[in-house]
Amino acid sequence: RFEKLWFGASLLLIVAFIGTIVYGAVGPGVAMVGDDGGTIDSDVVANGNYDQADNFRAPGVYESSDGEGVDVYIVARQYLFDPGTAQPIEVPAGEEVTFHVTAADVTHGFNLAGTNVNSMVIPGQVATFDVTFEETGEYGIVCHEYCGSGHHTMAGQLHVV
Ligand code: CUA
Repeated sequence: RFEKLWFGASLLLIVAFIGTIVYGAVGPGVAMVGDDGGTIDSDVVANGNYDQADNFRAPGVYESSDGEGVDVYIVARQYLFDPGTAQPIEVPAGEEVTFHVTAADVTHGFNLAGTNVNSMVIPGQVATFDVTFEETGEYGIVCHEYCGSGHHTMAGQLHVV
């Protein structure tokens, strides 16, 4: 008598799992080109030429146009984050930080160690996500997608000041 109930329950659970995976894949973090106004031409990115990709022409930290918080444009490439690796990214505490991250060559990852800030970084696409750091601190940035022989060296620093 209870078999049908259990069968239905487990079926529901399976559907829920699949739903979670699908949401994780197409939900936050993986933004399609142009969704956020940060248009980027995948060919241009692949060539490492940002002249026509406005927001990524000069990656870095910018005041948001609405006057609140900052926008950070980051390009990931084998095997560095620009900015982040050569010089730390500096963002203010207590303000909304909008990250826009793209990849110039192959798929990379962007993870702030010890936090839930985590995104895939796909060539030709811009991953956009908002983070508010309540306190000052320093975070390591790590690439969590295998991207080549130097993958394990691909890291950076983010300073909340
Ligand atoms: Cu970039 Cu692993």
